[in-house]
Amino acid sequence: MGWYRAVKEKLATAATKRDAKRKSLVPTSPTAPAGPTPHMGSSAVVSSSSDAAHYEMKGNTIIVVFGASGDLAKKKTFPALFRLFRQGFLPNDVKIVGYARTKMDKAEFHSRATSYIKKSDDDAGLAESIDKFKDTLTYVDGDYDTGAAFDVLNAHLLEIEAHYTSEDKNRLFYFALPPNVFVTVAKNIKEHVYASPGVNRIIVEKPFGKDLDSARELLSSLKQYWSEEETYRIDHYLGKEMVKNILVLRFANVAFASCWDKSHISNVQITFKEPFGTEGRGGYFDSFGIIRDVLQNHLLQVLSILTMERPVSFSAEDIRDEKVKVLRCIPPIAQEDTLLGQYVGADGKPGYLDDDTVPRGSVCPTFAATTLWINNPRWEGVPFILKAGKGIMNGRYFCPKSKYGIQFKDVTQGIFQDIARNELVIRIQPSEAVYLKMNAKTPGLQTHAMVTEMDLTYNRRFAEAKIPEAYEALILDALQGDHSNFVRHDELDVAWKIFTPILHWIDGKNGTPPHPSSYPYGLRGPQDLDKFIQKYGYHRTTANYEWPVTNLAKA
Ligand code: BG6
Repeated sequence: MGWYRAVKEKLATAATKRDAKRKSLVPTSPTAPAGPTPHMGSSAVVSSSSDAAHYEMKGNTIIVVFGASGDLAKKKTFPALFRLFRQGFLPNDVKIVGYARTKMDKAEFHSRATSYIKKSDDDAGLAESIDKFKDTLTYVDGDYDTGAAFDVLNAHLLEIEAHYTSEDKNRLFYFALPPNVFVTVAKNIKEHVYASPGVNRIIVEKPFGKDLDSARELLSSLKQYWSEEETYRIDHYLGKEMVKNILVLRFANVAFASCWDKSHISNVQITFKEPFGTEGRGGYFDSFGIIRDVLQNHLLQVLSILTMERPVSFSAEDIRDEKVKVLRCIPPIAQEDTLLGQYVGADGKPGYLDDDTVPRGSVCPTFAATTLWINNPRWEGVPFILKAGKGIMNGRYFCPKSKYGIQFKDVTQGIFQDIARNELVIRIQPSEAVYLKMNAKTPGLQTHAMVTEMDLTYNRRFAEAKIPEAYEALILDALQGDHSNFVRHDELDVAWKIFTPILHWIDGKNGTPPHPSSYPYGLRGPQDLDKFIQKYGYHRTTANYEWPVTNLAKA
C-alpha cells in the first residue's frame, strides 16, 4: 500500500499548508487522536475550484439537522454525528441544532437523538461520551414554510455564535426531510439563516425527483438558492468502505487493471438483497418502487466507479468527470432487459400487498433486475446486471446484503475442460470482503483442478479495523469540503436518462403497466431469475465448491 500511503502523505501536507493559510482556526478537539488529520479528503490533492469549496470546517461550526424528529435523523444522522464526535472528528466545540415541526423539550430531543446509538456492555466510556454529545445538542421547533420560523432558528444560531472568538462562521445544514419540502427549506435557509460572511453548505438526500423532468425541475429550483459547490447530494453507497475501495482495487493493482475490459470480463452483477419487506413504509415505497429506491442511485453509482476510466487525479471533479463520461455511454434500459417481481406472503410473513400502507392491487415492483450496456471500446458487449429486492432472504444473514461480482471469461479450452470461471467478488455488506474465485490444483497426488478462492475477509485480515458507517464518512467529507463522494448534478441527469423510459413503462405512462412476477417472501426473487441471468452469460459455479472449508475426503 505504498502508493496509498504516499497519496495520504501528500494530502496531509496539502491540508497542513492550507490550514496554515487560514488565520484563525481553533485548535483540534482535545479528544482528537494525535498525529495528522485522521481522515483526508482526496480533493485536497488537486483543487480546481474556489477556496470556499475546499475549506475545512474545523471550528466555529454549527450543524443544523432539519427533520430532526424523523426516522432518518434518529437512525442514521445522529448516530453518525455521535461516532464522529466521539472519535474527535467533528469541528472543535461544534454545536448541533435539531429543527423540526414536532414540539418537544430538550430532554425528549436528547433521548430521541441518542436512541439509536449502539450500546454495548463492554464499552466503559460510552455513557460519558453520550452525555458530552448531548451537551452539543439543542432543538428548535418550527414549520418549514414561514420565514418567521427560520428567523427564530437564526436567532438561536446567532446566540451560539456570539461566543466565537474569531470571525469565521460555518453552518452545515443537513436535510433529513421529505422531498416535498426540500425547495421551501432551501429557500428559507438562504433567505433567513445564511451566514454572511461565512461558509454555508447543505447536505441533501434522495429522492431527487421521480424521472428526468422532475429531477431537472428540482435541481434547478435548488440552484436558485444554493450553488453546486455548496450542495452535497448524498448517495450513502458512496460512503461505504467497499465502494470507496473500488478506486484502489482497480487503479492500484496492475493485476486487475490490465484485465478490466471486454476481452477478459464476461459479465458483471451488482446485487442488493433485503431480508425484510416494506413493513409500514409501503406508502412511500409504492410511489417510488425498487428501481428508484436502489438501482437508479446506489447500484448505478457502484457501476460507474467500476467502469469509469482512470481519473487524471483524485480531485472530486476529475473523478466525477470520469463517472459522467461512462454513464453517458449507457443507452436507456430496454424493456426486454428487465425482470420485475413483487413478494407475496410465505411462511407466516406478509406479502407486499398485505401491508396496510400499500395501495390495493399495486403492481409496484419490490424486485428488479435490469441489464445495462456500455457503448464504449472498453465495455462494448459486456452485460452489467443490476438487481435488487426486498423480502429476500440471504442465506445465513438476517441483514441486508450487497455485493458486486465480476465474472471473467472462460479459460482457453484444450488442456482444461469444464473449468470454473474466475470471479472477483466484493462484498459491501455484511462483513466486508474481497475474494477471487480461482482454480487451483487439488492438494494430493492427483492433478485435478478445483475451485477455491483467495480471500480477503476484513474481520479476519485486519485487527481493530474501525470501518465507518457510510453516513459518518460522508458527513465528515462535507465538513472537509470534499465532494468526491457526492453526486454532481450532471451525474444525476444522466442517471435519470438511463432509467426514465423503463420507469414510465412501469408507471403505466404509455399504456398498461407490466405485471411483476410474484415471488414468495424469503426466496431469491422471481422464478425466472436464473434464466434471466444465464441469458447474459453468467455461469454459476456449484460443482465441488464448498465454502468456507472444503473437505477433500468428500471431493
Ligand atoms: C435506502 C433505501 O436508500 O437504502 C432503502 O431507500 C434501503 O429502501 C436502504 O433499505 C439500504 O441501505 P443499506 O445501507 O442498508 O444498504
